[in-house]
Amino acid sequence: RPRVAVLISGRGSNMVALLEAATDPGYPAEIALVLSNRADAAGLARAEAAGVATAVVESRGFKGDRAGFEAAMQRELERHGIALIALAGFMRVLTEGFVSRWSGRMLNIHPSILPSFPGLDTHARALAAGVKLHGCTVHLVSPGVDEGPIVAQAAVPVLPDDDESRLAARVLEQEHRLYPAALAWLATGLAGNGPPPPGASGSLANPLPRF
Ligand code: GAR
Repeated sequence: RPRVAVLISGRGSNMVALLEAATDPGYPAEIALVLSNRADAAGLARAEAAGVATAVVESRGFKGDRAGFEAAMQRELERHGIALIALAGFMRVLTEGFVSRWSGRMLNIHPSILPSFPGLDTHARALAAGVKLHGCTVHLVSPGVDEGPIVAQAAVPVLPDDDESRLAARVLEQEHRLYPAALAWLATGLAGNGPPPPGASGSLANPLPRF
């Protein structure tokens, strides 16, 4: 099973969803490392409680030196024999160098139906725009922020009495379902014919699992 690093910056609920899925011996990936760019990320304790290796590379310690920050992360990833990366609430933008190095082997989950609402504050912006459907996207990471090839999406209704937190909770429930399935898809492709080429549509490179 390919060894996966989950990169977090905070709460880590998507990371926990991935950990739980991967406890099934039939799951095609192993979560081998949880890496945080913040020492105070709540998700670290949840990973430790689950017995998963953790590492912290403090982005704050690298003030403006993104290449240095990423080189330190790369060392941790190599030390743990990582084959795939899942960004899960990881709130740093990665350079083109790091992204290219992991091309086709790094996923991100984003709390909107891309290409709508890239960036931050997606739930507030969806409410302000008056959309009736919102949701989440798992995509391969490419150099443009929230722009890589889409692997999987889930939609939820926006209800008349929604506020940001109710809408966020409805989306998050779908994130926890979608991300393990999408990672399974990528891991299965890797075990077979290597990673999908950058830009490959998920469904063409390898059939997506049932959600
Ligand atoms: C999730 O909603 C994730 O989609 C979002 O942050 C939250 C992290 O929650 N990611 C982004 O906004 C990426 N730009 P979690 O730490 O509980 O998984």
